[in-house]
Amino acid sequence: MAGDKAQTILLLFFLQFPLLQAAKILTVCFIGGSHYLLMDEISQILHNNGHQVRMFLQYGNSMLPGRPLQQRPYSVSTYSLDKKYLQENEELFVESQKDYLVGRNTLQNFVIFLRELSYQCNITLQQSDILNFLKEEKYDLAVIEGFNPCSFLVMEKLGLPFIAFFPGMMMNGGRIGIPGPLSYVPLFGSELTDRMDFFGRLKNTMMYLGSYMIDRIMDAPFQEVIDQHFPAGSRPTITDLQRRAELWIYNIDFSTEFPRPLLPNVQFIGGLLAKPAKPVTQDLEDLIAESGESGFIVVTLGSMISSLPLVEFLKEMNDGFAKIPQRVIWRYNKTSWPKELSIAQNVRLMDWVSQNDLLGHPKVRLLVTHGGMNSLMEAVYHGVPVVGIPLFGDQYENVVRIKAKNMGTFIPPDQMKAENLANALQEIMENSSYKTSAMKQRVVLRSRPFPPDKQLVGWVEHIIQSGGGGHLRPYSYQQPWYQQYLLDVILFISACVGVTIYLIVKVIRLLIYLMSSNRKQKQN
Ligand SMILES: *[C@@H]1O[C@H](CO)[C@@H](O)[C@H](O)[C@H]1NC(C)=O
Repeated sequence: MAGDKAQTILLLFFLQFPLLQAAKILTVCFIGGSHYLLMDEISQILHNNGHQVRMFLQYGNSMLPGRPLQQRPYSVSTYSLDKKYLQENEELFVESQKDYLVGRNTLQNFVIFLRELSYQCNITLQQSDILNFLKEEKYDLAVIEGFNPCSFLVMEKLGLPFIAFFPGMMMNGGRIGIPGPLSYVPLFGSELTDRMDFFGRLKNTMMYLGSYMIDRIMDAPFQEVIDQHFPAGSRPTITDLQRRAELWIYNIDFSTEFPRPLLPNVQFIGGLLAKPAKPVTQDLEDLIAESGESGFIVVTLGSMISSLPLVEFLKEMNDGFAKIPQRVIWRYNKTSWPKELSIAQNVRLMDWVSQNDLLGHPKVRLLVTHGGMNSLMEAVYHGVPVVGIPLFGDQYENVVRIKAKNMGTFIPPDQMKAENLANALQEIMENSSYKTSAMKQRVVLRSRPFPPDKQLVGWVEHIIQSGGGGHLRPYSYQQPWYQQYLLDVILFISACVGVTIYLIVKVIRLLIYLMSSNRKQKQN
């Protein structure tokens, strides 16, 4: 009896306290812009939940032009790429932007971008001081930025279990073995929705057949880094490394994504940066007050793009904004504005804006955006309709979803004309169905069973407590491809059917032969 009581007390004691106290967690981010914003948020959330967090950060490329410096509550191990390289890299990005702004979002540009990341990765893997330090720290788990393949190479070097956090939609579902029926799951890059007609399904299928080749082309730059840094005989492929994640988390939500099959080692936790709005500055409040009943719109083309290198494009946008009665708050680096172009009366340029707070303002009417996932999640969170100007990466795919959900529309950059822009803005603001849909998706996002930060912490702790994600990973990762696609079984069944048909035909022929020879004998 006494023993029972002691047990009960012990049990009560354990129930009072969470099983897991202060785990050691490493976060990894080798890429700037929105990717960094997310990894910073994740590090803060884990820190605020009592974990000991350190970020391995590569400081440099396109961090966040215009954004004021912030204090971080967690530790950071960082190194910077050299100034000369960063300068060249910036120039290269501006060159790519010129392509994007005339609607050339090519695989070639993407490969150039990946080549830069692989060059940087070679340098990352030479930071032996940091790498040795991190190895000795013995982390319980890492949470890595899952877009840059370098994060996976570093995990392999450190030998740490890790969760991959992907900053956007599921671009790599096929690669990590997530079923995606081609009849209703559009492939990345197809710009299709889940409702495909015959030609849509044909396109989706053809793209699937080509996707293996495309993956190979995209992996090539990193394969060279792997060859350099891993001994022959133990050189993984990028796909191998991606499949080693204990769990995949995507920054996406079904308020914008089409319903599709998932596996237990995949979670959609979108919108970590979308939050209740804080009041905006008095200066902005005054500006908004001037707008009266017509309200204001917010314009941002992403954390990485603070100015546009194409004057004609800028002119069309500026002229388009001049045609509407709303005030326009445009995140644009003032010093890069071309002298020859006068800023429209109703436009206010800002080096940096707190987009989430502006979108939560009662007088906001619309967001003009490049279509990055963080921006779209904030728009959904605050129920604000969208006009997209997709430039590169996943942006085209994202705005296709916004349009499919009737939350807005988009203008491909090669169709950017003042007239088109003004018409699109007016249509989205005047036709109330867009606002209605936006408010509907807002409810979808906000009424998730658990808010995203709770989900994140819950999954991270679950993976640590259960000793990894082995119980979530499908057995298909270990199966050879012919077993996984049941080719051996199909071959066997086909052979059986073939042999049976062959035998039946033989027997029938024999019977016919016997019957006809019988008849002949009778006739004779
Ligand atoms: C990595 O850097 C080293 C020297 O810093 C260089 O010799 C090597 O060629 C680079 N490897 C790749 C794959 O770029």
